[in-house]
Amino acid sequence: MSVRAFRGAILSVPHDPAQAPEAVRHEPDGMLLVEDGVIVARGAYDELAERHPGIAVETLPGLIVPGFIDAHVHYPQMDRIAAHGEQLLDWLDRHIFPAEMAFADRAHADRVAALFLTELLRNGTTSALVFPTVHNHSVDALFEAALARDMRIASGKVLMDLGPQGLRDTVESARDGSEALIRKWRGRGRLSYAVTPRFALTSSDAQLQVAGDLIAAHPDVLMHTHLAENERECAEVAARFTDAIDYLDVYDRFGLVGARSIFAHGIHLSDRACARMAESGAGIAVCPTSNLFLGSGFFDFARTTAHGVKLGLGTDIGAGTSFSMLHTAGVAYQAALMRGHRLDPFRALYLATAGSAALLHIGDRAGALEVGQEADFVLLDPAATPLLARRTAGATLAETLFALQILGDDRAVARTYIKGQCAWNRDAA
Ligand code: GUN
Ligand code: ZN
Repeated sequence: MSVRAFRGAILSVPHDPAQAPEAVRHEPDGMLLVEDGVIVARGAYDELAERHPGIAVETLPGLIVPGFIDAHVHYPQMDRIAAHGEQLLDWLDRHIFPAEMAFADRAHADRVAALFLTELLRNGTTSALVFPTVHNHSVDALFEAALARDMRIASGKVLMDLGPQGLRDTVESARDGSEALIRKWRGRGRLSYAVTPRFALTSSDAQLQVAGDLIAAHPDVLMHTHLAENERECAEVAARFTDAIDYLDVYDRFGLVGARSIFAHGIHLSDRACARMAESGAGIAVCPTSNLFLGSGFFDFARTTAHGVKLGLGTDIGAGTSFSMLHTAGVAYQAALMRGHRLDPFRALYLATAGSAALLHIGDRAGALEVGQEADFVLLDPAATPLLARRTAGATLAETLFALQILGDDRAVARTYIKGQCAWNRDAA
């Protein structure tokens, strides 16, 4: 059995502060005891050290927080970040679909998957819900690379039978490919499968029904798609699905709205859709850097929170502009303020960790550094840059956390631990 002990300032937010005011857990001088990658004790250093005499303790200078959980990101798009000039539908046609076509080559998928996971670790992200491409082997490439790194990753072949030439599957290949991948990957390592229709516009009704059938047949899988991101997209959905009450209802009619459903964006949602989302237990991956980059709009934190919709945070690389969940949290604050809502830095940390974990149904294993959870954590450096060092000198915990979100990025991630093992060390890189 491997036993490791870590000493440092520990901060986590296991519950949504918007619902539970006592949600923040902070030990200024804390200790984590880890056995075989799982946290077996957490508390004040003095107390725990006394209870476990003689144990070798590694002191970590900085702020220990749970590993970040990116609730929506596209690995094949990492080389297309910063593609200039278009909103969603034209951006997909001009920049993204050509990039995804290159994944017909398995070796290319392997290379990008490895680089992608390194980028996650550099940014302190230890888990993610990931869009691959329509190609079955794009899932294999990602899952094999994640298995080798023992990372907690969810993904599933993209369904898109109405996609562009060269990037289309069919109703049958969507069903057969997804079934085969579920059989192949179920229960392996820390991986989970997500049935992944790209969005309403790229699937036929028959294929959306296949997605619904897959979810009904496999209650352990997730459902991952895009929802109500961009005005032109919403208009095209309304024009095609004239019987549906709204965009969410399109998915609902095919059995795609439930407690294991994760919808990216949700910028343009009615009160009805928010209420239905909350009632079903479905969640939204909020992706603020993407929403700004594509001119999609500003997420309505006040309205979704009032309805009790489950929220997490996503980078949405490559429409998103940073792999950093710290930076994404900082932009979430600014996007919220555009609608008059003051996103609290502790709530932003919750969204980037336990909130996203709840969306991915991994909250029992990750996201809050609770006893019984896996020891995926990040060591943040509040003095990572001269400006951060000045701003955080003598600052309160809330001020420090907010400064890390506004000024921080991968430079502020000193180390990333996967199950108690250092998987990224900034100063050794
Ligand atoms: N909607 C459908 N496909 C995509 C995609 O790849 N990125 C984003 N941001 N929205 C989408
Ligand atoms: Zn996306």
